[in-house]
Amino acid sequence: MPQNTLTITDNRTGQTYTIPIEDGTIRAMNLRQIKTGPEDFGLMTYDPAFMNTASCRSSITYIDGDQGILRYRGYPIEVLAERCTFLEVAYLLLFGELPTEPQLKNWVHDITHHTMLHESTKKFMEGFRYDGHPMGMFVSTVAALSTVYPDARHVHDASNRLLQIQRLIGKVPSIAAMSYRHNVGFPYVYPDNDLNYAENFMNMLWKMVEPKYVANPAIARALDILFILHADHEQNCGTNAMRSVSSAQTDPYLSMASAASALAGPLHGGANEEVLKMLDEIGSKDKVPAYIQKVKEGHFKLMGFGHRIYKNYDPRAKIIRWCAEQVFEVTGRNPKLEIALELERIALEDDYFVKRKLYPNVDFYSGIMYQAMGFRPEMFTVLFAIPRTAGWLAQWQELITDPEQKIARPRQVYTGHGAREFVPLEKRTSAALAAG
Ligand code: ACO
Repeated sequence: MPQNTLTITDNRTGQTYTIPIEDGTIRAMNLRQIKTGPEDFGLMTYDPAFMNTASCRSSITYIDGDQGILRYRGYPIEVLAERCTFLEVAYLLLFGELPTEPQLKNWVHDITHHTMLHESTKKFMEGFRYDGHPMGMFVSTVAALSTVYPDARHVHDASNRLLQIQRLIGKVPSIAAMSYRHNVGFPYVYPDNDLNYAENFMNMLWKMVEPKYVANPAIARALDILFILHADHEQNCGTNAMRSVSSAQTDPYLSMASAASALAGPLHGGANEEVLKMLDEIGSKDKVPAYIQKVKEGHFKLMGFGHRIYKNYDPRAKIIRWCAEQVFEVTGRNPKLEIALELERIALEDDYFVKRKLYPNVDFYSGIMYQAMGFRPEMFTVLFAIPRTAGWLAQWQELITDPEQKIARPRQVYTGHGAREFVPLEKRTSAALAAG
């Protein structure tokens, strides 16, 4: 018997099957042969929320949740955060290797020259309600780009895909900044090609009447590091949406709008905004123990804690803690940090959190840092979506070029009625319907 196999005995029939094991997985389709008779559809797996199902083969991001390890294309996140720029990391995610100097120069040039939005897109954004949530504006405007670039539907053309990738990575900071300016009622600011990716974003967010915006270099670098940390995270909820929607060969603008919609949820990228609300609600350090008690009693969750994959300290949260200190040297300490540190200290010693392996995740400290940098909580998830664009697009490319992938279409376990007798409208009563 080959060693890399699984032997299954079906106790309903007494029949034995041998199934290959590859990369620690069995193919779900190999279970289909396990039947009780010719009429039987065959065995399926039932896995709500994909707790134990690999949906793809991927060479982009590696996570070891027990050890707290995160690597992009084999490089540890800590090294990339310290030594690279975000656009260098985006290149790595998309093309599989770090760029050489000339490659990086071209890449930065290409992205920088795709930052402008069509004037019709600007007009589209002007139509949003004056105080609309920036994430709603972001999602809708990314989807609307599908109308500006109808050529994007040619998803099997590699050079066309590259053009859409450059457009999206170039334009998301512009859309994000306009969402913010619209929300606060300021005029939109056009991109400035003299500035780097993070500086230009700051320019579009915060330039007022000065002729040229000058970004604080420490804040710009911190923002760039945050972009690196958020660039990809393998098959999370948003990326799964990206892959699932684009498996129908939907264009990347519409697919990415669905990925960003998933990210907007409070259990996903929306958690950083919720962390700030939570810290405001707690109010002061001395109220932390009472708050933790309520979490333990199941009244609510401790936002920014826990992760489906990490059962250890999220490595991104560690880098953010360090990065926050650099930002606070420029901006002064955010008073909410004291409450957050106390929450972390108590939670990490408490049996409830220890037993469930609940540690701070990426969202726990990022909000405090964003707020110190001058961002309002409504912008936090948008800030997450900008860099995640690189990851979503890398995953999209991988999906499109993977010969094994097809339209994503899960199965279900049907729990409804069997075939029923139709009851005409005039004879419908609850009793007649129940009898049917
Ligand atoms: N506070 C209190 N208890 C928690 C928390 C939390 N933040 N997270 C999980 N738990 C508890 C659950 O109640 C459950 O307890 P039980 O076994 O007694 O029922 C146990 O820990 C396991 O949690 P699950 O919900 O089964 O874990 P799952 O993997 O489904 O959820 C998730 C992961 C959604 C991130 C969850 O931990 C959570 O809601 N955290 C708060 C929101 C958050 O910070 N989200 C950001 C995640 S990072 C990101 O998406 C960028």
